[in-house]
Amino acid sequence: MQRRATHVPGITTLQHAIWSVPVSPDAAGDLVHTLERGGVLFFPGLPFAIEPGESALFSPDILSSAKNASFDPSTGRIGGTTLLRGKGAPGSKNAEDLARLTGLMRRFSDCARSLVHGLFPAYAGAIQRARASFRPAEIAGRASSWRKDDTRLHVDSFPATPVQGRRILRLFTNVNPAGKPRLWRVGADFEAVAGRFAEALSMPWPGSALLLRALHVTKSLRSPYDALMLQLHDRMKADADFQETSPQTRVDFPAGSTWLTFTDEVPHAAMAGQYQLEQTFLLPLSAMIDESRSPLRILERLKGRRLA
Ligand code: SIN
Ligand code: FE
Repeated sequence: MQRRATHVPGITTLQHAIWSVPVSPDAAGDLVHTLERGGVLFFPGLPFAIEPGESALFSPDILSSAKNASFDPSTGRIGGTTLLRGKGAPGSKNAEDLARLTGLMRRFSDCARSLVHGLFPAYAGAIQRARASFRPAEIAGRASSWRKDDTRLHVDSFPATPVQGRRILRLFTNVNPAGKPRLWRVGADFEAVAGRFAEALSMPWPGSALLLRALHVTKSLRSPYDALMLQLHDRMKADADFQETSPQTRVDFPAGSTWLTFTDEVPHAAMAGQYQLEQTFLLPLSAMIDESRSPLRILERLKGRRLA
């Protein structure tokens, strides 16, 4: 695999054209180091192949929720799509399209796993594949509350599914059939961002984690780390000065390209684009080469206490 630096700070471009090639131990060591330092690994020539019958799925009309359809690779279950309506009628258009969407998502999820295992052998025994998503809605001009507005720089944090300190690694592929790029802004160093907001982040009150789980707001206990990361996500999005003046770079990810990064650490905003596939992975902290660089350990240093 060839590797070359790009002119965009924080973005490492890799000329890697297939999903299943293991990298040499030396290159793998470099890559994991780059990733753990908040880099974005960018594969401009790594498209995901859409099969002929699947083009019918390329419409925002298949969405029943605002943002995306989801796929759980552990159960094969799809969510967030109108295609689930009438799926009980075998041979119906919806049933056929649902089977197509399931097939597409499973193929993509398997490709993503194969790439991540090949690139990061150090994580292989520990990394967990979570949900994948298909994002057929145009981002630019989409109405949403400020908290859900992903055109604002933020780090990822999940309100309903706490990670308890695990890392969120996400892989994205732009599958826009008309060749439109996905436009992102990528922000700077997590430590600086967390330092800017640290004082304003407050510890959750005792008992709140149990209550949130009992009320089914969360699926498992929301650790103090998860509570602080949700606040950080919100503080970043709500701060107009931070949005405009913090160090950031605009990146256009072309159709047919793939990229991956720790989205719990790297501030990002998606400004425009339509049709994207995404796979989420969760990584236990103990699998990192240097866990002192994780958001959990950085926030613990800033707050002077254990958070998970
Ligand atoms: C996000 O994770 O904030 C959105 C990324 C995207 O859909 O491009
Ligand atoms: Fe995000």
